[in-house]
Amino acid sequence: MANNTLTVTDNRTGTSYTLPIEHGTIRTMDLRQIKTGPEDFGLMGYDPAFTNTASCRSSVTYIDGDRGILRYRGYPIEVLAEHCSFLEVAYLLVWGELPTQAQMNDWVYQITHHTMVHETVKKLLEGFRYNAHPMGMFVSTVAALSTLYPEAKHVEDAEIRKHQMFRLIGKVPTIAAYCYRHSKGYPYVYPDNDLSYTGNFMNMLWRMMEPKYVANPVLERALDILFILHADHEQNCSANAMRSVGSALTDPYLTTAAAASALAGPLHGGANEAVLRMLDEIGSKQNVPAYIKRIKEGHSKLMGFGHRVYKNYDPRAKIIKWTAERVFEATGRNTKLDIALELERIALEDEYFVKRKLYPNVDFYSGIIYQAMGFLPEMFTVMFAIPRTAGWLAQWNEMLTDPEQKIARPRQVYTGEQERAFVPLEKRGAVATAR
Ligand code: CMC
Repeated sequence: MANNTLTVTDNRTGTSYTLPIEHGTIRTMDLRQIKTGPEDFGLMGYDPAFTNTASCRSSVTYIDGDRGILRYRGYPIEVLAEHCSFLEVAYLLVWGELPTQAQMNDWVYQITHHTMVHETVKKLLEGFRYNAHPMGMFVSTVAALSTLYPEAKHVEDAEIRKHQMFRLIGKVPTIAAYCYRHSKGYPYVYPDNDLSYTGNFMNMLWRMMEPKYVANPVLERALDILFILHADHEQNCSANAMRSVGSALTDPYLTTAAAASALAGPLHGGANEAVLRMLDEIGSKQNVPAYIKRIKEGHSKLMGFGHRVYKNYDPRAKIIKWTAERVFEATGRNTKLDIALELERIALEDEYFVKRKLYPNVDFYSGIIYQAMGFLPEMFTVMFAIPRTAGWLAQWNEMLTDPEQKIARPRQVYTGEQERAFVPLEKRGAVATAR
């Protein structure tokens, strides 16, 4: 018998089965042959929240959560953050290799020349109240792009897919900036093709009457690094939404809107905003021990801490801490940093957090930097969505070109009633009504 197999015995029948092991996994479809009789449907795996199920093969991002390793297409995140621009990393994620100079020039040209949004987008945004959450506006506007580019539905066509990727990566900063300007009541600022991806984003956010916006180079680079760190993170909740919705061959605008919706939740990308609110609630360093006590009593979670995959320090959090120092040299220190550092210090020593391997994640420090740079907390998750669009598209493109993939359709374990006799309304008793 080959070594790379698993033998299981079904104690209901005494039958043994040998299942192949590949890449450290068995195919759960191989369990289907395990039956108690011809009427039996066959064995399935039960894995709520996919805690131990690989839903795809992917060559985009590698994470070793125990060792705190994150690599895009084989390159360590630390190396990419030090040497690359965000657009270079976006190219790497989508196409699998770092670009040559000529490829990079073309990529930057294409993205830059797809940053404008249709004028009707402004009218769409005007329909939102002044205090609408930017993430709701962002999701709706990305979805609305679907109505402007009907050819996008031909997702089997590689050229069409490529074109929509230019558009999406190019337009998400414009949409994000427009959402911000809408909430402030400021006029929208058109993209400036002379500027870098992040420099142009800052221009669209903050330019007022000056004829040409000049970004602070330290902040522009810091934003680029933050974008690199947020660009992909393998099969997280929003990437899974992207693949799942995209597997129905839905166009990439609607699919990206679905992924962004998943990101909006406080357990995912919404955590960066929640961290800032938590730091506000704590108020000062002295209140940290009492707050930690409340967390341990189960009143709430320590936002920005813990991760499904990392059971070690999130490598992105390390780079963010380093970036924070550079940003604070330019902006002045955000006083919330002291509370965050104290929270981290106590949590890393406390048995509750140590035992559960809870470390700061990417969201713990990012909000503090964004706030020091002048971003409102409501914008933080939108800031996450901009670079993550590149990762979502890389995952989407990979899914569509994978011959093994088809429409995502999980199974369930049905726990409801078996067939019941119908009781007409007038004959139903109090018990039936209460249900
Ligand atoms: N504060 C306090 N306790 C925690 C925390 C936390 N932040 N995270 C996990 N725990 C506890 C949890 O209560 C459980 O304890 P017990 O074993 O006694 O029941 C144990 O640690 C294991 O946690 P879990 O909930 O089973 O872990 P999970 O893998 O299902 O959840 C998580 C991962 C990220 C949703 C969770 O750690 C969390 O809610 N963290 C706070 C929100 C956050 O920062 N999210 C951003 C994640 S990183 C960026 C991203 O994905 O967008």
